[in-house]
Amino acid sequence: MDIDVSKLFNTCLLFVATIVVAKLISAFIVPKSRKRLPPIIKGLPIVGGLPRFLKGPIFMLREEYPKLGGVFTLKIFHKNITFLIGPEVSAHFFKAPESELSQQEVYQFNVPTFGPGVVFDVDYSVRQEQFRFFTEALRVNKLKSYVDQMVTEAQDYFSKWGESGEVDLKYELEHLIILTASRCLLGREVRDKLFADVSALFHDLDNGMQPISVLFPYLPIPAHRRRDQARKKLADIFASIIASRKSTGKSEDDMLQCFIDSKYKDGRPTTEAEVTGLLIAALFAGQHTSSITSTWTGAYLLSNSKYLSAVVDEQKNLMGKHGDRVDHDVLAEMDVLYRCIKEALRLHPPLIMLLRSSHTDFSVTTREGKEYDIPKGHIVATSPAFANRLPHIFKDPDTYDPDRFAVGREEDKIAGAFSYISFGGGRHGCLGEPFAYLQIKAIWSHLLRNFELELVSPFPEIDWNAMVVGVKGKVMVRYKRRELSVNQ
Ligand code: HEM
Repeated sequence: MDIDVSKLFNTCLLFVATIVVAKLISAFIVPKSRKRLPPIIKGLPIVGGLPRFLKGPIFMLREEYPKLGGVFTLKIFHKNITFLIGPEVSAHFFKAPESELSQQEVYQFNVPTFGPGVVFDVDYSVRQEQFRFFTEALRVNKLKSYVDQMVTEAQDYFSKWGESGEVDLKYELEHLIILTASRCLLGREVRDKLFADVSALFHDLDNGMQPISVLFPYLPIPAHRRRDQARKKLADIFASIIASRKSTGKSEDDMLQCFIDSKYKDGRPTTEAEVTGLLIAALFAGQHTSSITSTWTGAYLLSNSKYLSAVVDEQKNLMGKHGDRVDHDVLAEMDVLYRCIKEALRLHPPLIMLLRSSHTDFSVTTREGKEYDIPKGHIVATSPAFANRLPHIFKDPDTYDPDRFAVGREEDKIAGAFSYISFGGGRHGCLGEPFAYLQIKAIWSHLLRNFELELVSPFPEIDWNAMVVGVKGKVMVRYKRRELSVNQ
């Protein structure tokens, strides 16, 4: 009996102890975890950080990161935008499934431009299939035929330059890239016959994407009205091209053909409206981004004699090996030029802010070991423009140093997969990256082989106000024809 009493006593003690411990856990740990919200950027009542954000998100990040570290929240009205800066905390941003961090809500503003039934207007399962169409249209065998068209376009375009002269390189490269994109993506019919009409319509689509459109994409303003009319006209043009290709049984080597031939898993072919929408999306993803990057590459090469000689020497070596031939495989050997482009893109990623919407709570740990819980409902953001210049990843981050990517240094890899994020990464990494590099290399290898170039305007500034952040003002370049020879 005595033993039973002591057993009972011990059991009661254990029970009480368990409750006390549970209470302690709930009193300290659970509320503590609720308290682990990221620090908040100081702002005004009601509007919060809106004025600072509008003044320039990168300037705001430059001020706040040293004070708050890699994770912090900006309040704008009732919205919370939590920034995850640096590979230690941004991994979840890039790797999380759509059910946890989604693009659909934050990129909704693209819907009136791309049109109904595609990309951010459809469920994730359909969008995934549409991105499969992109992947297939950008496979190596397709890229090989696009490269031949890129090279021809560059030759034709620069053949119109004189023996010597001065040009705005930014304007020239924008135009060449529209022509090339038109040929490889939109197809021969547009490039050969309808170029003027279609590029004017794309111009209206472009102008219909204003900063205000991000918040109010359907606001009845003239720019939006012109955008909507342009999209309808483009849909008509592509419907008739598609119908003519189908009726004549003609097949071409372009993205348009790939999208026409694409089928969903259930066997359903793409509609004409979907093909049009996907082409518009491709042009929006790839045109400004590539032309801006080609311009920055030029500005840096023409301001850095060390790297200019290195890329010229590489061209000479390749000419010694392959003669004048420039195709996919020759472009693939242009490693020095590749690193020079990649470095221009590190310093100037055209997409400065990437966004997601959080559907579940998640936690991140900063490189200093601080843990933060990011609640469901926050908009989550990361910034290639800021993260690409973090000094703990990139040595002398503001210096143009393409060798940082060479074997032995590889600064883009040593801090993990998400150190260099000009093309995003993970689940939604850019599908057009190889296309973009090929296109920019094709242009620059032609320029280096055929011209002596000199930058005559000051080194360009950044145009932070553009939706796709690029180069401010003109980039004046003096050129003189020369034929590079292997023994020069
Ligand atoms: C220098 C040129 C380019 C840059 C800097 C660039 C940058 C990016 C970035 C940062 C993303 C990720 C967006 C996010 O995570 O929210 C992305 C996605 C994408 N890009 Fe590019 N891009 C370039 C060229 C192209 C080209 C030429 C194409 C197609 C022809 C293209 C097609 C796409 C597509 C389809 C996606 C969406 C992938 C997905 O969500 O799964 N891009 N790009």
